[in-house]
Amino acid sequence: MSHAHDRLLIIDFGSQVTQLIARRLRELNVYCEIHPFQTVTDEFLEQFAPKAVVLSGGPASVIDDGSPRPPERVFDLGVPILGICYGQQVMMQMLGGRVERGEGTAEFGRAYVAPSKDLDLLDGWFAEDREQVWMSHGDHVAEIAPGFEVFATSSGAPYAITADPDRHFYAVQFHPEVHHTPKGAKLYENFVRLAGFTGDWTMAYYREDAIERIRDQVGDAKVICALSGGVDSSVAAALIHEAVGDQLTCVFVDHGLLRLNEAEEVVGMFRDHMNLQVIHAEEQDRFLGELDGVSDPETKRKIIGRLFIDVFQKHADEIEGARFLAQGTLYPDVIESVSFSGGPSVTIKSHHNVGGLPEKMGLKLVEPLRELFKDEVRALGRELGLPDKFIGRHPFPGPGLAIRCPGEITRDKLDILRKADAVYIDQIRKHGLYDEIWQAFVAILPVRTVGVMGDGRTYDYACALRAVTSVDGMTADYYPFTHEFLGETATRIINEVKGINRVTYDITSKPPGTIEWE
Ligand code: XMP
Repeated sequence: MSHAHDRLLIIDFGSQVTQLIARRLRELNVYCEIHPFQTVTDEFLEQFAPKAVVLSGGPASVIDDGSPRPPERVFDLGVPILGICYGQQVMMQMLGGRVERGEGTAEFGRAYVAPSKDLDLLDGWFAEDREQVWMSHGDHVAEIAPGFEVFATSSGAPYAITADPDRHFYAVQFHPEVHHTPKGAKLYENFVRLAGFTGDWTMAYYREDAIERIRDQVGDAKVICALSGGVDSSVAAALIHEAVGDQLTCVFVDHGLLRLNEAEEVVGMFRDHMNLQVIHAEEQDRFLGELDGVSDPETKRKIIGRLFIDVFQKHADEIEGARFLAQGTLYPDVIESVSFSGGPSVTIKSHHNVGGLPEKMGLKLVEPLRELFKDEVRALGRELGLPDKFIGRHPFPGPGLAIRCPGEITRDKLDILRKADAVYIDQIRKHGLYDEIWQAFVAILPVRTVGVMGDGRTYDYACALRAVTSVDGMTADYYPFTHEFLGETATRIINEVKGINRVTYDITSKPPGTIEWE
């Protein structure tokens, strides 16, 4: 049953926005995969058997020797092809047209295209006599390939939209997948419709299919899973449990750096409500003991990462017959990206994960979310009946409150932080802002400040509120709360949380800041 659904292939030439193409297509219930051009060979095409192909944009110039190409074979598959930006140019060049590096024809940013002829790809697209699109190109097509005709133009691109309608080859100079091409989704909708996709990629379908695949893979062996209560591990656990029931045991590592009532909520939900076998590993003393006196952020992260693996392994070893480790790996982690720079990037923070553990323990991986984007995981979670409270949660980092407590970590500070964070999140929920915000939390600062409450002097901690908007955590902006909201929240925290007498709001974006404080 696996792969019974229709598949669309996106050949990646290294555009920054290739993932958005996949997002737009998945929103149309079309199953697609992104593969870098280097890996797309004739054999690959044969085996993948796409029902349609999209050629992405990319930073290279088709004029240059050795610039990326798809295999010639792609044009002989007899399936519709959509070339975007670089994909358009490579298509023209390979099919007999010509691309030039233009003097004065580069376009970056907003542009308008006007239709010159009807085309099935453009059905319902032009409400008026022009449409806004997002361009980003230096080169341009100077001569279109035989069989192609022009269907729309822009001031800098006489060949903004061209097509060979008989072969269903479409070529657009702009990026229909980005937000700044407001009606771009319509173009993809038309493309997949005329390619014959039926929209069979739904989460109800995925659930059934994934359950069968998990059963096939696991057989009657045992599976272990590090459950954090975050959406990925929660959905993975719920899905695997549905597939193999009590063959799954989850380990919830309580490192003492969790939020208020978090352990009770997660364990209660999965153990008592959903009947999963959950080991609640209460290891607060071990973690907090080793962190005692440590204030360097990377050292904290390393200690927590190492202990997490130790603790998980200790509990997992007690589960006899465990042969698989479940992980909530998502599609964005799996996509091989096209790298032109080739250089290593600097480590800003060492992220905490259980990588390396499977080999050490001789375990195989079960990764039932590998094909999904985050919002699909949420949709699957809903399909599996997980409460919204789990599905819509803000991300929470593996090292937990340790990285929201700059400087030394003490139990006292953690308690204060937990209380302040709970008040802040309560405020955000009460004002109906939770779902607008990517992530919100309090950081307790390593300074105490003087204040006056009643008639007395106070000398307590200062804290910082953080709230950001983001789409993927890679870049972020601070959330523009009203002054009323900030004032009310500061008053509540100072009144309700003993130990804090000053509240600040962090208005740093990422970059230059990061989301977490450490
Ligand atoms: P930064 O602070 O790097 O965070 O801007 C980006 C996103 O990643 C989360 N984060 C982590 N998540 N383990 C995780 O699972 C980690 O070690 C870790 N560090 C940061 C952070 O909360 C934000 O969502």
